[in-house]
Amino acid sequence: MADLDDIREGKKFGTGVAVKNQSFHVKGADNLTWGAKDRLTRIFNPETSRTVMLAFDHGFIMGPTSGLERIDLNIVPLMEYADCLMCARGILQTSVPANINKPICLRSDAGTTILTELNDNVLIDIEDAIRFNVSAMAIMLAIGDPAMEAKTVANLFRLADLGAKYGIPVMGVTAVGKDMARDARYFGLASRVCAENGANIVKTYYCEGFENVVAACPVPIVIAGGKKLPEKEALELCYMAINDGAAGVDMGRNVFQSDDPVAMIQAVSAVVHKNYSVDQAFELFQELKN
Ligand code: R5P
Repeated sequence: MADLDDIREGKKFGTGVAVKNQSFHVKGADNLTWGAKDRLTRIFNPETSRTVMLAFDHGFIMGPTSGLERIDLNIVPLMEYADCLMCARGILQTSVPANINKPICLRSDAGTTILTELNDNVLIDIEDAIRFNVSAMAIMLAIGDPAMEAKTVANLFRLADLGAKYGIPVMGVTAVGKDMARDARYFGLASRVCAENGANIVKTYYCEGFENVVAACPVPIVIAGGKKLPEKEALELCYMAINDGAAGVDMGRNVFQSDDPVAMIQAVSAVVHKNYSVDQAFELFQELKN
């Protein structure tokens, strides 16, 4: 039998492991409910406190983006290597196998497409998130956009209220307008605003001084990949972000537009979870590709 001190120290007994008395493995989540923590644990690996989210929500504003034309052929084969799948409800319902058993981060807002200036963005009802049994809800914030800032911050605030009620974490997605500076001051402000308004995860972009963005944000930050880069550069981006404190990636185009998406997602995962260097990860990519 384990005594209390042994349990506090996390000692092993028989086939089981006594649970160590420590703070929760996801930054800023100690005071959340059991349900929210369970959902975050599905997204963030408890061993590494990190995640590889596969983003394929682009179609809800961009239509059939290159690489996303056929979800069944191009995206489903990647799912087993992702820790979490991020998409909009139409693709989830029609094209993601319900027996995939992966946590879902559901796009929970809707607005204008790339054909129109960003001028409206609404919150989708939380009932969808409950029906789909999602592990997180994602919502965009247009920080610095005079027309959209207040509306999108209010949407996040409301979604965080609903998420807290049902134990569903919220991810704030920091959008970058055409005229915005892509620097640590801007991303630091945008990330902090997300967290202060109730986001449990922030998705933003890597930049110089990223460690300061991470340090000033009380919840985990995952980085978007952005436009397609050569594979080695994309792996370098992941490496630098993780090295500077990112809790993972929420990556789309640099995975599904790669020469070999299945190899690329495994190389990204090796950087995120196994601390691979850029060279090691690129070597892995090439090996898998061959
Ligand atoms: C953009 O609206 C979406 O949220 C994407 O999921 C996000 O930008 C990440 O995808 P990518 O790595 O292609 O930038």
